[in-house]
Amino acid sequence: MTYQRTIIVTGGTVSLGYYTALEIAKAHPEYLVVVSSRTDREHAADTINKKLGQTNTIYIPLDLSNLQKVRAYVRDWEKKDYPPIQALIFNAGLQFPGGLTKTVDGLESTFGINHVGHALLFHLLCAYLAPKARVVITSSGTHDPDQETGGMPKANYVSAELLAHPTGATVNDPGRKRYVESKLANILWGYALDRRLKQRVPDRGITVTSFDPGLMPGTGLARETNAFERFIWIYILPKLIPLLRTVLFPNVHRPQESAVALARLAIGLDVEDESGKYFEGLKQIKSSKDSYDETKQDDLWKWTVDYLAKGNGERERFEQFK
Ligand SMILES: NC(=O)c1ccc[n+]([C@@H]2O[C@H](COP(=O)([O-])OP(=O)(O)OC[C@H]3O[C@@H](n4cnc5c(N)ncnc54)[C@H](OP(=O)(O)O)[C@@H]3O)[C@@H](O)[C@H]2O)c1
Repeated sequence: MTYQRTIIVTGGTVSLGYYTALEIAKAHPEYLVVVSSRTDREHAADTINKKLGQTNTIYIPLDLSNLQKVRAYVRDWEKKDYPPIQALIFNAGLQFPGGLTKTVDGLESTFGINHVGHALLFHLLCAYLAPKARVVITSSGTHDPDQETGGMPKANYVSAELLAHPTGATVNDPGRKRYVESKLANILWGYALDRRLKQRVPDRGITVTSFDPGLMPGTGLARETNAFERFIWIYILPKLIPLLRTVLFPNVHRPQESAVALARLAIGLDVEDESGKYFEGLKQIKSSKDSYDETKQDDLWKWTVDYLAKGNGERERFEQFK
């Protein structure tokens, strides 16, 4: 079968990413839907295909914590004749609530996986984006210190370099602070990307949005927490969602509910030209004050290109979206 377009969902094998891929595959049997993460323990693509009686979802392994492997993913991609990419859904994300952990490249892991790996994937796949392609970034309301987020630490962006290579006092930051800062980085980078796309390649019509799925108890996000917290998160809290909405805050959902909103940002006609915006579920809202700070956006953008580009040729390609 020849497909018209491709949609890539990172972290599309379980929870929010899985249901998002399912929504898109159902709505667009003429698209190739690629779910990518390190493992596919639950055979996500096969399950989606069986459920829909289709064959348009495939799994391609991806490890965002290893930049060589991200490059290898794209090299393999280039060898295949996949259709142009209609949407990149940057959804994979992890939390490391314990002490400082680092990727094989020596980056703090949360920042490395949630931001840096995705940024490299974007730059390397940019040439394969269809006209009017969409980049959708799963962030989190927890990036915003002024929002009620159920006791998460407050994000404080100092510099990309400090997030990448914590020193001094930040070496002992709690893992959840690193998480909320990586989610702020997602939005800062999304806004930085949006401004540059509009300035440098307006004719390509590529749009960028960031997304908060709300609290989704029961997902794998708590996999690194202690046994007691995991038990509560996986077995108790999902049963209490209506109560949590009343006593905590309304933005609590099952992953399949948030997936409808995430899929909409990738394929919904009503948000086709929305770019440089932040959505909480279906609603477009303001992100945190810090996220609009262009000095911070530019610091992150510059650090990311400086860190990722191999030589001047690649830097030029990354900056000019070639
Ligand atoms: N759950 C919540 O309450 C909540 C709230 C706000 C925002 N979010 C955001 O929603 C997104 C999805 O989270 P979720 O709750 O659905 O979590 P999840 O169940 O843990 O799913 C995360 C996905 O990311 C993949 N992943 C993790 N590390 C990866 C890596 N190094 N390379 C490639 N893929 C990787 C995982 O697969 P592998 O481990 O097999 O690689 C999995 O498919 C995340 O960005 C998260 O920050 C979640």
